[in-house]
Amino acid sequence: MLKNKNIVLGVSGGIAAYKACELTSRLKKLNANVEVIMTKSASEFVTPLTFQSLSLNQVVTDMFEAPKYWEIEHISLAQKADILIIAPATANIIGKLANGIADDMLSTTVMAAKAPIVIATAMNVNMYENVIVQKNIEYLKSLGYIIIEPDEGRLACGDIGKGRMVDPAVIVEKVLEILNPKKDLEGKTFIVTAGPTVEALDPVRFITNHSTGKMGYAIAEKAAKRGAKVYLISGPTSLNTPLGVERININSTSEMLNKVLKYFDQADVVIKSAAPSDYAPVEYSEQKIKKKDEELVIRLKKNPDIAVELGKIKGNKILVGFAAETNDLVENAVIKIKKKNLDYIVANDVKAEGAGFGTDTNIVKIIDAAGNIDDIPIMKKIDLADIILDKISNKLGERT
Ligand code: PMT
Repeated sequence: MLKNKNIVLGVSGGIAAYKACELTSRLKKLNANVEVIMTKSASEFVTPLTFQSLSLNQVVTDMFEAPKYWEIEHISLAQKADILIIAPATANIIGKLANGIADDMLSTTVMAAKAPIVIATAMNVNMYENVIVQKNIEYLKSLGYIIIEPDEGRLACGDIGKGRMVDPAVIVEKVLEILNPKKDLEGKTFIVTAGPTVEALDPVRFITNHSTGKMGYAIAEKAAKRGAKVYLISGPTSLNTPLGVERININSTSEMLNKVLKYFDQADVVIKSAAPSDYAPVEYSEQKIKKKDEELVIRLKKNPDIAVELGKIKGNKILVGFAAETNDLVENAVIKIKKKNLDYIVANDVKAEGAGFGTDTNIVKIIDAAGNIDDIPIMKKIDLADIILDKISNKLGERT
């Protein structure tokens, strides 16, 4: 189940280092390639030879003791890792990571890695409860590190409380969940719209808004990961196209409507996370508009409302809209869900801190056509994407 997966296992210095041996062996049984990096103090608890025998790979310890490896190793291991696990993760390594300290092979490798990082914490209960440690853990969580909290029980030092590293089987389960994500959207086609539209006034000026596309791209990325065929119809953004997603670039709201209609027949689901401009200039000036009078009046005409158009022809497709509001969030969103014939509307107060345009997080209420409201607390847009997709997946399931 983990064939062709490169797992870098960082072992830091705690008594739970012995459990990392079982973890290595479990990962090997699932056919993963396991590369172990030990901190200096970890090798006081378990010898590198143990991990070498279990992983069948050279174990990396001190970066300065093995120059033939370290020159490339901390970068190459970071690059080749599909996932990094630190188990056990002591207060020391957590503190280093939270503060950007890279002074040994493990911290250096983690710092250079782009892969998901799982941290299985293990330490004395009083250390675990220490406010600095807790602050570091919370900070790492907010950066997307996956923290596995310790179990409660009798600790090696004799104290009783939270601090014991979880069973290696729990860590393996987490790794499987991350590396083999569910494919519940396989066979389904999604259209996701994202980003702003731009409505040109002349060759150098345009009307637009603050959308960066982050929300829509997160949904497209997760839908593709979960097996869907995804058409991402995107206004101008600086984001990279998520893996496995077909991106279609547009500028104006009318262009967005045309492209959505082009792929509409194939779609099972349309998610309208874009912020299309409601108005466009009545006239486009072929030449740059010259500076003349004190006031310049620009006449605007209403753009088509794409969601309204889709709502009229949606059949049994699932249509999800967003509502970007600055006041009366629920009331306004409920009006839109009806007017646009949506199955769900994801309402965000774009004035709230941590929500709306440009942020990596959002705070939303997901409202369904029957008026049920799911209050979602602040979370990363990438995680919110999964919550929205879970609802759609359930609804698709009900229909088959
Ligand atoms: O891109 P980010 O920086 O990550 O920001 C995310 C976001 C704030 C853009 C996103 O979370 C969001 O709220 N998107 C909807 C923005 C918007 O246009 O909201 P609205 O309330 O004006 O429109 C309601 C719905 O109708 C939306 O689904 C919108 O895509 C759709 N619409 C609007 C106008 C129009 N002419 N055609 C449409 O289809």
